[in-house]
Order: sequence, then structure tokens, then C-alpha cells
Amino acid sequence: MTNNSSLIINHSSHLVGEINIPGDKSITHRAIILGSISNGRTIITNSLLSEDCKRTINAFKMLGVEIEIQDKIVIVNGKGLNSLKLPSSTIDAGNSGTLARLISGILAAQEFSSVITGDESLVKRPMRRIIEPLEKAGAVISSENGQLPISFDRPLCKPIEFTSLIPSAQIKSCLILASLFIKGRSEIDESVKTRDHTERMLQYLDYPLSIDNTKIVIEGNTTVIAKNISVPSDISSAAFLIVASLIKNKSNISLRSIGVNPLRTGIIDVLIKMGADIKLVNLRSVCNEPIADIHVKSSKLKPIKLAGDIISRLIDELPILFIACACCDGVSVIEDIGELRHKESDRIKSMEEGLMNLGIDVKTTQNSIEITGGVFRGGIVNSYGDHRVAMSFIISGFVSQKPVTVTDTENINTSFPNFIDILKENNNEIYHV
Ligand code: S3P
Repeated sequence: MTNNSSLIINHSSHLVGEINIPGDKSITHRAIILGSISNGRTIITNSLLSEDCKRTINAFKMLGVEIEIQDKIVIVNGKGLNSLKLPSSTIDAGNSGTLARLISGILAAQEFSSVITGDESLVKRPMRRIIEPLEKAGAVISSENGQLPISFDRPLCKPIEFTSLIPSAQIKSCLILASLFIKGRSEIDESVKTRDHTERMLQYLDYPLSIDNTKIVIEGNTTVIAKNISVPSDISSAAFLIVASLIKNKSNISLRSIGVNPLRTGIIDVLIKMGADIKLVNLRSVCNEPIADIHVKSSKLKPIKLAGDIISRLIDELPILFIACACCDGVSVIEDIGELRHKESDRIKSMEEGLMNLGIDVKTTQNSIEITGGVFRGGIVNSYGDHRVAMSFIISGFVSQKPVTVTDTENINTSFPNFIDILKENNNEIYHV
């Protein structure tokens, strides 16, 4: 756990050997959620026990589900689709957009009323994107300005038919979860394919769901039967160590059993295109998700131009990719990234400000960024309470001339609680200040 909110990276060392990456956040959330509405016991191994995932455990406990934690194993005793109970108070999703949006699909389908809220960052994030399609299916929902808190007043009553124009796995998954409760056939389409962990997990559980390119068809009101779930290690967390190893001379690391779902591996494809020495070996699959071991050696990187559908395949890795771009000779341009303005912080703004503070030349528009590679001089950066911004700037300390101080870092615990410990174990000097 991080106790103080500012961190300083004083001295960095190359990374070598095997590094254990914790379980995938997106998949852990989904395993807890689907386990909670399944019939039977789900034993979830290698689950991520970060602040965000603990919020999900807590939320379903509030809905009457029995959940135990034993070390990194979560045991969910599901009693079926129609077993959830009226919560005694408002559900608090904390910092987790995934929890807020996914559980909304379930709450909107219950006979009882409920309210969900979140922390000061989450209450500013857009929720109209899930409220509108749920209302179209008959749910009565109230919220001010399409933001949290949201109250679910009457359940949806007809199958969902919706095409999402925003590339978002959270919107899609919210609607898939809602459809499970509605008798009949729901059809959910997306304009750009986004991470498909919900679909894959339902198929692993033998749920009747079919996929035709971007369209998902679900037969609702069918029992979900529990099965044990093993969670791959998180490629989004791995990305910080991968970039650190690429930019820090003499690094050579191995990461085992990392999730390599093709809708999440944009970062690997792009870094390889930039000249990175990254090898995926021992490809296999666990619970319908592809995994691989990843070997990374320090490399000289070239600048990149990116736009279009690739963005949704690396949406969470853009902050750390910006650090990699800042380490290249030349100008990188990344377009179509407007969704970054709606993450845990406005990531275009927080990354622009931080990079400039550290001596890197950056230009931005509403939905693009241009980064001219240069020298990180060191200095102070505000992470605006955004875990991925905080971790990205800590990694910039690996190539900085002087120390980098990152403020407001406690939310690193929302996704990667042992991030700083891993760096310290590898001889990096990082202090709380
Ligand atoms: C997630 C989907 C993405 C991603 C988030 C996790 C998920 O959000 O940024 O970190 O688990 O479904 P959007 O759906 O808002 O793009």
C-alpha cells in the first residue's frame, strides 16, 4: 500500500530477470460480477486484489452475495440471476469506472431500487452513455447531468437493441449484463471492436451468446452456471515494466502468463513497430483468454504515427506510450484519442502538462497529441490522482537527468498495488515524500 501521496524516483536501475505481474483488472471485475449472478461456487485464482476490484467485491456483498477472500483467491458463492437483494445503502464504486458502468447494467434490471456513486474523479465522468440505452429498454433512471450518483428506480422490461458509437467495452458490457436478465433476444453492436472479456467469459461458462463480427446476440433469462476462473496477468500493468525495460539500457526481463487478448495487445504491436525487442513465447489459453510469456530487451525506439481503430486496442496504455515516444529521436503523432479526456483524469491534459514540466515538447488538440522526443530533465509532476499517469511519470524517472517527483499517487493502488515494491526490488530508489 502507498501511504503518502507523493513519490520521488531518485535513482533508477536497469531491470533484469523474471517479474511477476498481478492479475488482470478487467477480467477480475468480470469474474466477480459473473460469479455473483451464477448458480454455484466460483473460485477465482490470480485475481487482482486492488482497490477497484475490492470495490466490486464490496458492491456484490452489499447485494447479498457471499464472497470470501483467501490470499489471492476469491471465492464467490452465487445463487443465480434472481438472487440479488436490496442494498442497505448507496453503492460506492470509488475510482472504478468499470464497476460503475458494469454494475449499472445489473442494477437497472432489478425489481428493487438502488443508488450508485463514486469518488471525486468518478462523479465527473460521463454516464449518459449507459443511461440512455438502459432507458431505451424501459429502465427508469435518474441522475443529474448524466453523472453519478445514479438512481435506478424501475427495471428495464424489453430486450436491448443498441449500436454503440463510442468505442467502449464498459458500455458494451453494461448492456450485455443487463440483457442476461431480460427474457428474449438482445442485440448489441459496436462501431469499433473493444475488449471482449465479458463475451469470452460468458462463452467459457457455456452461456448462449453468439458473436458476428461487431454484433453480439444474447438469449436472456438463461441460468449462468458457475465454473472456476483463472485470471491472466494484466498486460496493462505489464506495459509499464515493458516500456521501462525498453528505455533503460541493459534491461532484459521476462513476464509470465500475460493476457494477450488481441483486443488488448495494441501496445505490443506498436512498440514492435517502433523497433522494440519484444518476443511473445509459449502462447496458450486459460478460461477462453489467450496468454503468453513476454521477453523484453532494451531497444532504440523510433517515433510513430497512430490513428483509427488501433487506439481502442491500447487505450489504457497511451500514457506510458507517450513516455516511450518522448524517448525517441523525432516527432510522434497520435490521433483519435478524444476518449482519453474521459478517463480517471483528462489524460491528454495531465500527460501534456507533466511531459512539458519535465522538459519534453508537446502539442495537443481536443483529440490528438504530438510529442517531440527529447531529454527528461526531471522536476515535479501532478498525476491528478490518475493511477496510470502516476505510474507513467514514475517510469520517466528511469531516463531522467534529475529526480522526478510525482504528486497525488495513492490511486496506484486501484490497479497495481505492488508497482512501487517491484521497482524497489529491482534496485530503484523510490521514496514517499
Ligand atoms: C475497461 C474498458 C475501457 C478501459 C478501462 C477498462 C473494461 O474503458 O479504459 O480501463 O474493463 O471494460 P471504456 O469502456 O470507457 O473505453
